[in-house]
Amino acid sequence: MRKHKTFGKGTNLSCILMAALLQDRGVDAQYVDLGDAISRDLPPALRQEIVSCDKRVPVMTSLFEGIPGGPNNAIGKSPIDLCAASVAAGVGAQELQIWAEVDGFFTVDPRRVPGARLIPSVTPSEATQLLSHSSKDIQAFAIEQAIRARIPVCIKNVLNPHGSGTMISLDDVIDAPSCIGTSSTLTAGCKDSVQKQSSFNFAPTSHSKRPTAITIKDRIMVLNVHSNKLTSAHGFLMYLFRVLDKWNLSVHSDPSSLPANVKLQLGNVLEPFPEEMLGKYDLVRVKLLYAALKKDEWLLAARNLKTLLKPGGYLFWSEIGAYGYASNPYSEAFHEWKRIESEAAVKLGRDPKCPVLLPYQFRQAGFEGVDEKVFVTLGRPDLINIITKMALFYMPQNLNGLLKLGVMSPDLTEGKVNSLVETVTKETENGVEIGTNFHWVWGQNLGSS
Ligand SMILES: C[S@@+](CC[C@H](N)C(=O)[O-])C[C@H]1O[C@@H](n2cnc3c(N)ncnc32)[C@H](O)[C@@H]1O
Repeated sequence: MRKHKTFGKGTNLSCILMAALLQDRGVDAQYVDLGDAISRDLPPALRQEIVSCDKRVPVMTSLFEGIPGGPNNAIGKSPIDLCAASVAAGVGAQELQIWAEVDGFFTVDPRRVPGARLIPSVTPSEATQLLSHSSKDIQAFAIEQAIRARIPVCIKNVLNPHGSGTMISLDDVIDAPSCIGTSSTLTAGCKDSVQKQSSFNFAPTSHSKRPTAITIKDRIMVLNVHSNKLTSAHGFLMYLFRVLDKWNLSVHSDPSSLPANVKLQLGNVLEPFPEEMLGKYDLVRVKLLYAALKKDEWLLAARNLKTLLKPGGYLFWSEIGAYGYASNPYSEAFHEWKRIESEAAVKLGRDPKCPVLLPYQFRQAGFEGVDEKVFVTLGRPDLINIITKMALFYMPQNLNGLLKLGVMSPDLTEGKVNSLVETVTKETENGVEIGTNFHWVWGQNLGSS
């Protein structure tokens, strides 16, 4: 708490100094301390603070002190943006300007791509998506607050004040707001850029919209989390998120962090899809169901998936199967694993030949223009590492799973699983290459069944 108070004191002193400086330069300014404003309903409370300044220019602190967790929580990291958004909402501002150290949003990261262009205007959902994928020191939450209060936001750069900035417009249809602020040249910048946008036909039409920007996210880690079922589901998730929070890891499986046009839903390919999903999609993409489907379920899945397609829409399915693995030089341990997997597949009612029959099943389901490409990874130096990593990750899971299911003969023991995994690991370290075949199968829905 003392740390937050110390942060807060720096802000207080700066504001006192700035108010004095403005007064010294002939601007009637007033210092406003917002230290405890967080405990009240923010926008009206901030409005009251502004109104009490009458005609004087308010120089406000941000909201460090009152925020639980201070500058170390999500809000506290950039309380100035939130404070500004709340003030804008409180006074019903025509526009909120956020002055940061970036020119605005670019079509792609300008540090990586020299030809990146500044985007004159983005929609609120684009801004939220771009902020969640960038390191910009602007807070998406604050922008959401302003947009919710129907206030457009203009991002400007303190290091390049004459730059045009990016306007976060209220709607997809851009209604250029009249800018307010202390510098008409600067505020006109955003407005100009909105008009330019229209003339460049960047603006979305009611029919279609080109992608606004491309973002790259690196240092992504995929965590495979397994519950031992000893704790309740919510207790387990609470613990999991606590650990992630401790290491400051943001989680992207959280549906609220998905782009606004992406929706996650559970569906079963073996059951009819809900009415509202039928005939709605141009493309349905399916991947890696081979362990999920029994021999006679592939056709049923293809038929059900076809019902999702618009007339003319495509189903694209990529699949692997136990049959399609190879090693070079030949690895006995690796092929023993694949033999066990094929034997288990038969016992579990699966088809070890899958996905070889998939194009045939597509035709049976009524798809037209059915075609296939088999992508062979063996012998591809660029793919060895990833395929080996995948196989070594999957191998113990697969064998231990079969062991637990108890479907295999008693000669599959924990000792045998460990020895197979150890041998294949060593062999691949010593240059044995392993590969698999990916079957890409596609077909078009032209209405026949
Ligand atoms: C090997 S994973 C592939 C996951 C994902 N498609 C990918 O490529 O990363 C197989 C997935 O199929 C899902 N699955 C199993 N049975 C299914 C069914 N009847 N309908 C839809 N999905 C199913 C499982 O939940 C699992 O997520």
